[in-house]
Amino acid sequence: MNNAVEPIRKPVTLHRLREMHAKGEKITMLTAYDATFARLVDEAGVDCILVGDSLGMLVQGHTSTVPVTLDEMVYHVRCVVRGNRTAWVVGDLPFGSYQDSREQAMRSSVALMQAGAHMIKLEGGGWTPETVHFLTERGVPVCAHLGLTPQSVHALGGYRIQGRDQAGAQTLRSHAKSLADAGAAMMVLELMPSAVARDVQTDNPGMMTIGIGAGQGTAGQVLVLHDMLHVTRGKLPRFVRNFMAEGGSVEDAIRRYVNAVKDGSFPDESIHGY
Ligand code: KIV
Repeated sequence: MNNAVEPIRKPVTLHRLREMHAKGEKITMLTAYDATFARLVDEAGVDCILVGDSLGMLVQGHTSTVPVTLDEMVYHVRCVVRGNRTAWVVGDLPFGSYQDSREQAMRSSVALMQAGAHMIKLEGGGWTPETVHFLTERGVPVCAHLGLTPQSVHALGGYRIQGRDQAGAQTLRSHAKSLADAGAAMMVLELMPSAVARDVQTDNPGMMTIGIGAGQGTAGQVLVLHDMLHVTRGKLPRFVRNFMAEGGSVEDAIRRYVNAVKDGSFPDESIHGY
């Protein structure tokens, strides 16, 4: 890989992301799992790279994210960090690496951050604010993740839209508030009605919500790279747009995604389910 080319922008920091959010500029995030795609995503101007445990399906061929281990996440974070030069890197804590105790979560976060992640992401509400508080107090920037939380796919009964009824929506709002109060700087909101995601952002104006299948009312958007390039095999969620069909190359497709999120033409507000 040629590292000699000058980066096209200054490194994206948490401060810079917060400035963008305060100004109403939409934040872009895409997954990447290796150095080559991390470089392409960064060069196309994506603000944040998520080294997601979706690599369990897309790289490792599993049927869910559940089998992914912390060592495997550390390996992929290292690969991404070698390719990336300026994007903010979020590393996913995999299933079983943070549920035991706050101390276990801290040790796992240290492993991802020493591999080069700038922020860690963990799934779930209810029991997680105490862990988020513990981590943020100790200098770990945290991205929470509510709605459809793929590590709990078996408990949730499949990849279903969350927060559909009033009680479910209220639970999501109350979990989001506790996580924001605990110090979560960012929160992925996956597969929920756009009105619920919008309410979460309004309730917690200082926290950056990043939607996936959650409409337009969030501070930013994330997609799985393989999905938006339409190279994922099997059924794709309805909210995914085929940016590869619109662009002539991977680079162009990613740039189109960035532009579409920034100008508000993606996502389609009416599509928030699978
Ligand atoms: O692992 C992942 O790619 C994710 C996204 C779906 C948000 O968590």
